[in-house]
Amino acid sequence: MELPFAESWKIKMVEPIRKSTRAEREQWIKEAHYNVFQLRSEQVYIDLITDSGTGSMTDRQWAGMMMGDESYAGARSFFHMKDMITRLTGFQYVIPTHQGRAAENVLFSYLVKAGDVVPGNSHFDTTKGHIEGRKAIALDCTVDEAKDTQLEVPFKGNVDPKKLEKALQEYGDRIPFIIVTITNNTAGGQPVSMQNLREVRALADRYGKPVVFDSARFAENAYFIKTREEGYAGKTIKEITREMFSLADGMTMSAKKDAIVNMGGFIATNRQDWYEGAKGYCVQFEGYLTYGGMNGRDMEALAIGLDENTEFDNLETRIKQVQYLAKRLDEFGIPYQRPAGGHALFVDATKVLTRVPKEEFPAQTLTIELYLEAGIRGCEIGYILADRDPVTRENRFNGLDLLRLAIPRRVYTNNHMDVIAVALKNVFDRREQITHGVRIAWEAPLMRHFTVQLERL
Ligand code: F0G
Repeated sequence: MELPFAESWKIKMVEPIRKSTRAEREQWIKEAHYNVFQLRSEQVYIDLITDSGTGSMTDRQWAGMMMGDESYAGARSFFHMKDMITRLTGFQYVIPTHQGRAAENVLFSYLVKAGDVVPGNSHFDTTKGHIEGRKAIALDCTVDEAKDTQLEVPFKGNVDPKKLEKALQEYGDRIPFIIVTITNNTAGGQPVSMQNLREVRALADRYGKPVVFDSARFAENAYFIKTREEGYAGKTIKEITREMFSLADGMTMSAKKDAIVNMGGFIATNRQDWYEGAKGYCVQFEGYLTYGGMNGRDMEALAIGLDENTEFDNLETRIKQVQYLAKRLDEFGIPYQRPAGGHALFVDATKVLTRVPKEEFPAQTLTIELYLEAGIRGCEIGYILADRDPVTRENRFNGLDLLRLAIPRRVYTNNHMDVIAVALKNVFDRREQITHGVRIAWEAPLMRHFTVQLERL
């Protein structure tokens, strides 16, 4: 008999978590104005708000923490990190930053100016924020397939080359670079194929434009290339990673995802002009060039994390857990963005809470229901997150309205996945009785989802 699949690690340290009663949760979520960002973590049983900075480090990473060099300038830990990044990506110049959005801030301070247009595949909100905040346009050129949650295609995160070429023709000189997010978080943790990266490169070369990868989950992307794309089954994750980055001019990285550290990020490139142009902003916003807002120990753990998480077994354990949860949801007929993504499942709330009108925010309503059901904290990636149109000030209801269940790396077991699936099934079973959603009582003008105050209808 073939042995079943199991994790490629064993557990050395645990953190107790606590269940709560429905009455407690009713009270807590009310006090939080029905916004899960306002809950205290102790009020949460299973926390799926993000996979960012919430992973569990290995014993090697913890050992590395003890060896961190905290020198202000020229720290040994910086060079460990830089050498690892160069080995994995081929990029020689590395600028450390405290997290991903800081890398965006530093690089875009040099590259983006008012009136520019930056085409890409579903820019992450902070990426978009750093572009729009400079009075430039983040132009989404994701393939249309990404909008149909039930369509099963292997690389749903891809850039649509036709849309990209149209943008290149239309905006010409206004385009400072193309950005490709691997994996595509907003479209559901969906990967981008190597062939697509090559197509983007070819178009970029034809129009004389550089390419940046937003690389937060690049290792998960490499896993999908290995397991789904023809010609890559025999290659190692590190070989695939190297090939991916050979198609880019530079990268921004949130190390809180695929380097499995709690804090950290960087920019890497082979373009000396970018390095020279951006480094001053690192000093101004982040810190000196050999720490950029990180501790020496953070950089040490980051280097080790990158090395370990570009090994197949670790990624396979991770992705198989997400796929395990997907299989459980399939058993119950719960609709989510198919196929299961790398870091999360995105439940299609408008297909679950069909009786809640869009003006009452179905995905946010489902987020609240799941919390009330079992103390599980997901997060709305939908109409509230979409903010209002800057000109008309109307809510933007044209995208997807999803409940994201992000799975932290190496934190929960499949028993927790079972709890999540059954809790969601219980909500799903009573979906016909859920006819009302929420109303906004107070909101910030931008990025309202973090602080919005809601009322239940
Ligand atoms: N790019 C992508 C694709 C991301 O998913 C994130 C963060 C960032 C950039 C910014 O990185 O948080 O280190 O500043 N995503 C988190 C999430 C917050 O929950 O998906 P950061």
